Amino acid sequence: MLSSKEIRQQFIDFFLSKDHIFIPSSSVIPEDDPTLLFANAGMNQFKSIFLGQKEITIKRAVNSQKCIRAGGKHNDLETVGKDGYHHTFFEMLGNWSFGDYYKKEAISWAWELLTEIWNIPKDKLYATVYLTDTEAFELWKQETDIDPTHISYFEDKDNFWEMGETGPCGPCSEIHIDRGIEHCTMQNVQGHICQINGNCSRFIELWNLVFIQYNREADNTLTPLKNKFVDTGAGFERLTQVLQDKNSNYETDLFMPIINRIEELSGVQYTIEQGMPHRVIADHIRCLCFALSDGGFPSNEGRGYVLRRILRRAARYGRLLGFAEPFLHLLVPIVIEQMAHHFRELSGKEDYIKMVIKAEEERFNRTLDTGLEKFNEITKKLAGDIISGSDAFTLYDTYGFPLDLTAILAEEKGLKIDYQGFDKEMQEQKDRARKASKFTLQTSNEDWIELAENHPTEFVGYTETKIKTNIQCYAVQEKGLILIQLAETPFYAESGGQVSDTGRIYNDGFEVVINNVRKQDDKIVHYGKLIRGTINSEPVTAEVSIERRKCTARNHTATHLLHRALREVLGEHTVQKGSLVHPDYLRFDFAHFKALTFEEIRKVEDIVNNAILDNRKVITTIQNIEEAKNEGAIALFGEKYNNIVRVVCVEDFSKELCGGTHISFTGEIGLFKITSESSSAAGIRRIEAITGTTSLKWVQDLQDKLNHLATMLNTPIKKLENKLDATLEQINSLEKEIKELKNKEGEKLVLELLSKARTQENYSLIIEQTSFANPDELKQFAEQLKSNMKSTIAVIFNLYQNKLNILCVVSSDLIPKYNAGKIVAILASELNGKGGGRADLAMAGGKDTAKLSLVKEKVPELISSI
Ligand code: ALA
Repeated sequence: MLSSKEIRQQFIDFFLSKDHIFIPSSSVIPEDDPTLLFANAGMNQFKSIFLGQKEITIKRAVNSQKCIRAGGKHNDLETVGKDGYHHTFFEMLGNWSFGDYYKKEAISWAWELLTEIWNIPKDKLYATVYLTDTEAFELWKQETDIDPTHISYFEDKDNFWEMGETGPCGPCSEIHIDRGIEHCTMQNVQGHICQINGNCSRFIELWNLVFIQYNREADNTLTPLKNKFVDTGAGFERLTQVLQDKNSNYETDLFMPIINRIEELSGVQYTIEQGMPHRVIADHIRCLCFALSDGGFPSNEGRGYVLRRILRRAARYGRLLGFAEPFLHLLVPIVIEQMAHHFRELSGKEDYIKMVIKAEEERFNRTLDTGLEKFNEITKKLAGDIISGSDAFTLYDTYGFPLDLTAILAEEKGLKIDYQGFDKEMQEQKDRARKASKFTLQTSNEDWIELAENHPTEFVGYTETKIKTNIQCYAVQEKGLILIQLAETPFYAESGGQVSDTGRIYNDGFEVVINNVRKQDDKIVHYGKLIRGTINSEPVTAEVSIERRKCTARNHTATHLLHRALREVLGEHTVQKGSLVHPDYLRFDFAHFKALTFEEIRKVEDIVNNAILDNRKVITTIQNIEEAKNEGAIALFGEKYNNIVRVVCVEDFSKELCGGTHISFTGEIGLFKITSESSSAAGIRRIEAITGTTSLKWVQDLQDKLNHLATMLNTPIKKLENKLDATLEQINSLEKEIKELKNKEGEKLVLELLSKARTQENYSLIIEQTSFANPDELKQFAEQLKSNMKSTIAVIFNLYQNKLNILCVVSSDLIPKYNAGKIVAILASELNGKGGGRADLAMAGGKDTAKLSLVKEKVPELISSI
C-alpha cells in the first residue's frame, strides 16, 4: 500500500517530469488578501499573477497547498465529522499553467496520472464539464480513453469555480470516482439515486481542473483576463483514501495515528457509526496546528474567532468522549511528527502550539462551566420557548458563550433563539464601542471652519520637521481645545504602534501647542491648545518637537533590532503581536510560550547593542510589496498593506515593512537596555526596553543608588558586597547573642520569683509585676517559669507603656483543681478587661490600671472564690 507520504511525492514528481517547478505551500493565514479569511485553495498565492498585477516569471508549477475551509465562501466547519471526506484543514495538490498549456494537457495529464501511474480502474472514473464547454467535452473524448458515457455537463453550481465573492474564476472540469454501492450513505432516503454531484458518498470528487479566464468584480460582472491559466486541485486526503482503498479519509494513515491517540487517551474505541467525536477532533487538531504555526491566534474577531470556534467545537466533542480536563494539546506531537517532514514550518513549534491550545481550552472549560450555570438560570425563568436576543447576547458578551453553542444547548431543550434580537444587541454594542473609542474628539462636519480648499493631508515628516504651510480648516472645542488640518504636515500621526509627534503650529497672530495627532481617513488632524492670539488664514509654521521625535525614532529602530534579535535567540516563531513605540520606552509583544531566562535576555541585549555599536545604516525604500517580501522583509500578520510599501532596512541586519520614523545610523540609539520581561497574554511575552538619554539616565540613577548605599555602609563601591556580607553576618551573630542573654535574664527572674512564692493552704502563690515590651517575650518567660514550678500558681501583671496584660500559670499537678484560664478571666473582669486560655497558661488584657494594686491584694481571695 502506498503511504500518504509517497502519494504526495508521486504527484509532485509526475509534474516535475512535465517541466513544472515545485512551489512550497503559502501560509494558511493570507498575509495581504483582505477578501480571504484563510488560504482556501492552491491558487490563492498566485492570485496577483492571474489578475495581471504581478509579472509571470514561471510557466508551470506544482504544489501541495495547506487549505482551511472554515469561513467565507468555502465553509465546511459544521459538516466536518458527519461524513468521511469533509475537512476544515486539508492539502490540495495542484498543477498550474500561467499562460502556458491549457485544457488539453490539463485533462490528459490528470488522466495519465490517475490511470497509468496510480492504476485507478478507468471504468470507475467520471468527468464533468461546464454547461457550455464543448471544447473540454471533446477533449475528454479525444485525448483520453474514458468511457464517453461517463462525461457529462453541469451548471454554474458544480462546474464554474470561484475563489470568493470576487477574484479569478472560470469553468472547470471535475473528475469523480465511483466508490461502489457499499459507500452510499443515502440508501434509506426514499427515491435516492446515487449520482455525481448528488450528495452521496458513493461518488466523490477527486480532482478539479479549473480553466481560469475571468475576474469576478465586486459588482458581480465577469471581466476576461489577459491570459488563460490552468489551476487544478486534487484533495490529497481523498486521493489517499482511494489509493489506500479505505472507507473514509479518516481511515488513511493521515488520520489513523491521531485517532489511535484519541482512543488511547479517552479509552473510547473508534467506529464509523459512533466515531463522529474522533473525526471532529482529529480534523480540528490538524487545522489548529497549522493555523497556529502560521501565525494564527484564537481571539474574538475575524480569523481568530474562527480558530476559537474550531477549538471549542473540538473541545465540546471531547466532552462527549469523557474528557473533563484539557486534552487537545496532547495530540499536537502526533500531528507534528506526521506532517513536519513536508511542512517544515511546524518543526520547533510544538511547545508553543501546545501551550496556546492548552490555555485556550482551559479558558473554554471555565467559560462552559459558568456559562452553563447562567444558561440554566435563563431557561428556568423562561415563559415561552424563545431565548431572548438580550439573554443570548449576555451569554455571548459577559460569559463568552458563542452563539452557536447557545443554539446547540437551546436545541437540546427544544428552545429557539431570537437571532434578530441578538443581532440588534450586537449592533448596539458596536455603536457604543465606537462612541467610546479614542476618536471622541472628532467633530461633526458642521463644526469645521474652512480657511482653504480641503484635500487629503500630505505627510512630509520623513524628511522635514519644520515647514511653512496653510491651515485648511480648524475647529474649536470646549476648554480651548483646537483641531487643525494642514495642507501638508511634518507631524507623524499615531499609527503602527508609534505614538504621535508633538510640537506647535503658529504665525504672528497665534500659537497652538500640539499634543496629539491622529489620522482620520485621508486627513491628519492635529489636536492642541491655543496659547496665544486667534487663528487666522495667514500661512503658518508647523514645527515638530525634535527632541521627542528623536527619542521616539531611537526606540522605533531599536524595536526592529529587538525583533530580529529575538528571532535569532528564541526562533522564528517569535512574531510580533503588538508594539508601542514611545519617546520614553518601547514595548514589544511577541509570540513565545515561556518566560525568557536571564541568559536569553542578556543574549538579546548583546545582539542589539552590537548592532548599535556597528553603527549600521538605516535605509528606507519604497518598493513593490512582492519584491520586498521576496527580499525577506518582515510583514505583520493581519496587517493590510498597499501594493507599494515602505521598507525600513538596518543594513545587513533587519528588514521590515514599516511606516514609522527612524534614525539614520544605529549608533544614534545609544545603550539599549531591557527593563522588564513579562507575560502579556497566553503564549505572548512582553519586553520593555529603553534607549538613548533614558538608558543613560537609568545607568546614572543606578550609580546614584550605589553611591548612596556605599555612603550608608561607609565603604567604596567596589567593596560594597564584602561589606554587606560582613554586616549581615554581624547582625546574625548579634541576634543570637541577644537571644541567649534574654534567656539568661529570664532564668534569673524565674529563680527570683520562685524564691518569692508565698504559701497558701495547699499551693504556693507568686504574684509579680513585670514590664516586658513584647507579649511574645512575656509568654516565653511564662513557659520558662512553668517548667520550673511545682504545686505553684503564678499571676503576673505585665505593665508596659500603660498597657496591662494579666498572665496566669498553673503547675500541672494542680490541674484541674485550679485553672489558669478561669483565673485570668476573673482577674481581667476585676480590671475591666477580657481574656482566658488554657488550664496551665492563660493571658488576658486589663484596662483599669488604677485598680491594679487593689486587685493584686485580692488575688488569693479571688482564686479561692472560683
Ligand atoms: N481552485 C480549484 C479548487 O479549489 C482547483 O477546487
